[in-house]
Amino acid sequence: MSDTIMSNYNKLRTDLITKDRRFSAQDGKLCFDGVNLEELAKKYPTPFYVFSEKEIDRNIQEIKDSFKAHPNTKIFYASKTCSVMGVLKAIKDAGIYAEANSMFEVRKCLEIGFPGSQIVFNGVVKKPVDLEFAIQNDLYIINVDSLYELDIIDEISRRLKKVANVCVRVEPNVPSATHAELVTAYHAKSGIDLEQAEETCRRILEMPYVHLRGLHMHVGDQVPEAEPFAKATKVLVDESRRLEEVLGIKFDLINVGGGIPVPYKYDDENGNPLQDNMYAGITAQDFADAVISEVHKWRTDVEICIEPGRKVTGSAGVLLTEVACEKRKTNYDLDGNIEEHVEWKFVDAGYSVLSDSQHFDWFFYVYDASKITEQHDEYIKLAGPLCDGGDYFHVGVKGEEFLLPKDTQIGDIIAFLDAGAYTIESQTVYNNRPRTAVVMIDKEGKDRLIRREDTYEDMVGYDVY
Ligand SMILES: Cc1ncc(COP(=O)(O)O)c(C=O)c1O
Repeated sequence: MSDTIMSNYNKLRTDLITKDRRFSAQDGKLCFDGVNLEELAKKYPTPFYVFSEKEIDRNIQEIKDSFKAHPNTKIFYASKTCSVMGVLKAIKDAGIYAEANSMFEVRKCLEIGFPGSQIVFNGVVKKPVDLEFAIQNDLYIINVDSLYELDIIDEISRRLKKVANVCVRVEPNVPSATHAELVTAYHAKSGIDLEQAEETCRRILEMPYVHLRGLHMHVGDQVPEAEPFAKATKVLVDESRRLEEVLGIKFDLINVGGGIPVPYKYDDENGNPLQDNMYAGITAQDFADAVISEVHKWRTDVEICIEPGRKVTGSAGVLLTEVACEKRKTNYDLDGNIEEHVEWKFVDAGYSVLSDSQHFDWFFYVYDASKITEQHDEYIKLAGPLCDGGDYFHVGVKGEEFLLPKDTQIGDIIAFLDAGAYTIESQTVYNNRPRTAVVMIDKEGKDRLIRREDTYEDMVGYDVY
């Protein structure tokens, strides 16, 4: 094969089924934790997401291990990443805590069994009703995002005569090389200016029921290098130390947020994470080292809170979708001359099911799970079923083109790897196509439905007429 993109892609495919802890091949079919994905797709309606509980556990263990040098660490899973109840349950069973960004996320976390004392509450807009719910349920921390919000917390906590534990979310003013829309610590809407932190803390100290526990930040999501974490932690540490001095207080904790990246492209010898953050440049250990080394310059006993999301579920989820149509089309110029022929394959999942690929130009490895041992040797364009011209997968292995085996046929099951984070949460019912089912493969290798797909009755049931 003279085409290096093609040979690299096929090398990765072989590595996937021989070396990757999650995948293997059986009779030419792709298996996830030993489960034949083509067989699974006969049991559940495509498109659907499938999760591995083992992989969730392994990811959580990796994060826990990376913070061994600082035993006083609390890990709060960012539930916005994937809040399917069966996934939350697996995460709770693995022994970490939860972060929530809306009242219903808090409710889901409570319902699955996290006590309030294991939930932190974030968000730029928390309305009085959300805050009252949080205070009533004794959440571990409410991360205060504005002075406006703080006044509401003060009012509610006095009225209820209940303690509200808070951290002040500050903006450390540290950029990072992730997608521009995923930067949250530089020119961002979230948090309070560092210069306002002192005034905010002073105000809190005058509030009878509001207890100040520390500072909070979140650098960004899918941050490909350690330096921004170290820099931003230093900013938080320096400010915490200064505030302790000028205010005569002692903080209990420092919350450094999430942002540990997940590799979406694995052939790192070919990639530069600073130019293409689909290559994760760092591990959970690098993140931990960056944070801990800065915190330890201040205190070794202070509690460190982290809020990882993507790192917990990203590699644990696969989207399965079926080849549902194919056609060869011709692109003509305006004079009617042939420019090129395009081989289109259509799958039953579009951007209503996997919006990341469009919204953030996200890259996913895409393989024919029905023919995983075959060479993926034909460049095709891959489209979804939605009416929009833009409903095709934009980021392929070569420009907009993907590689699939030449004899890929209708009915084959196509797998999008590493699809477990920020995917299910942003599904829509656009074109009145159902949001998908979700299946969990448990630690014994047994599959079970953890969310059914929308029915017609679900969709029409929202409307009042
Ligand atoms: C405040 C906060 N914490 C944690 C996270 C989780 O980030 P990640 O999934 O990159 O770990 C986010 C994501 O947006 C966030 O906004």
